[in-house]
Amino acid sequence: MTREQYLKLSSILAAGTLLPHNLLAEIFSPEELKRNDFGKDFIWGTATAAYQIEGGWNEDGKGESVWDHFVHEHKGKIKTHETGDVACDFYHRYESDIELMHKMNIPASRFSIGWSRVLPQGTGAVNQKGIDFYHRVIDKCLKENVEPWVTCYHWDLPQALEEKGGWANRDSIKWFEEYVNVISKEYGDKVKNWMVFNEPMAFVPLGYLIGVHAPGYVNFSKFYKAVHHVTMSHGAGGRILRANVKGATIGTTFSCSHVDAKNDKPANVKAARRADAFINRLFIDPVLGLGYPKADLPACKHIERHMLDGDAEKMKFDFDFIGLQNYSRMVIYQLGLIPIIHFANVPAKKLGHDTTDMGWEVYPEGIYNLIKKFGAYRNIPKIIITENGAAFPDENVNGEINDTKRIQFLKDYLKQVLKAKQEGVNVCGYFIWSFMDNFEWAEGFRPRFGLVGVDFKTQQRTIKASGKWFSEFLSK
Ligand code: FCB
Repeated sequence: MTREQYLKLSSILAAGTLLPHNLLAEIFSPEELKRNDFGKDFIWGTATAAYQIEGGWNEDGKGESVWDHFVHEHKGKIKTHETGDVACDFYHRYESDIELMHKMNIPASRFSIGWSRVLPQGTGAVNQKGIDFYHRVIDKCLKENVEPWVTCYHWDLPQALEEKGGWANRDSIKWFEEYVNVISKEYGDKVKNWMVFNEPMAFVPLGYLIGVHAPGYVNFSKFYKAVHHVTMSHGAGGRILRANVKGATIGTTFSCSHVDAKNDKPANVKAARRADAFINRLFIDPVLGLGYPKADLPACKHIERHMLDGDAEKMKFDFDFIGLQNYSRMVIYQLGLIPIIHFANVPAKKLGHDTTDMGWEVYPEGIYNLIKKFGAYRNIPKIIITENGAAFPDENVNGEINDTKRIQFLKDYLKQVLKAKQEGVNVCGYFIWSFMDNFEWAEGFRPRFGLVGVDFKTQQRTIKASGKWFSEFLSK
């Protein structure tokens, strides 16, 4: 027994309390989580997205994406008036960045392909230089023993397609099929892990309903149509990947938040159910063959208006895994004034827990609740946490970034993941958002999510204390 264990135990015995099992465990094994606790097949990695890190926005034949367009034409919508034109300059620095991943023992890298880099107009002619770029990235990952996990779409629709109506145009299903066909044929021999979409519940409402992300519309009709076309594209993309990639593991990713009602007033409890249907189920349920969650979310009737014969079948796809992305939770009350959803959430700072630099509540139990919730769906074979992480105001002091809050956040969330796993849910991977600080959409470069700090003036990378912690954790 160590001195510390002895002191803890004697103070508890002196107080005359009985020792519950978990307290004993806490005293005798207070040491950190171990990689081994999760089993040897558990997948560990970090995540990024093309627009947030690549830069090279108009180089080597790349076409304009909705985000290129948005940051240039609607500067005011980015809080810091910045753009992702250069971002982390990954387009030119991918080799040293992937070497850094290797050095940090990171076994897998989740990244996305920029649609307008490979198909500048979205459909039609391919851009060979763009195609070659992702070959080089993938080859470098394989060389460094970093398994590539590719997201087909992380929010950067080619602007040429937005000009034809974007996701609100039913042709988007065909455009997306063409794109997924190109990339899966091109890279399918080397890449076995694929995700169709990143977080439809973020890019569809933020882009078409409240207009804070590209393409910046506040338009109910576009929103309803886009929900349905993205849902249809889930199934369509999945089927193309299945046909083109031998031995593929195919998933897709959803943002989700544990939802609590503000109190037990019936109107708030009902609003919380509606919020859960909107935030967590609107996109998942139909791809699992359960249809839109209209019993809890009446607004689904506006979406179903856009369904054609046969769509219910085509929306379904047998994914090998579902990617859950979680940052925070929502505490909900009824608010009739809010169109479509009729609920609002209590501001995080009023909930009595810490918040991150995004203003999001730190609530580790939430990830456990979500894993249990989705683990109980009959038709989800595997869950992977494809994003989890936190932004805190890091400070670089003489070349050191001592981000202890981030380390604590990751440990606390990971403990909850482990708890769900130990209770029998098939959760089999965890990706930290993000490998390095990057362009955080409408927030600009201010929020820093990386395990690696980036000085955006010099592009210098600094492994933060959290990066060192993760690297050490992975080495054991
Ligand atoms: C997720 C996005 C990702 C990043 C993190 C903080 O919703 O998928 O691109 O912005 O949030």
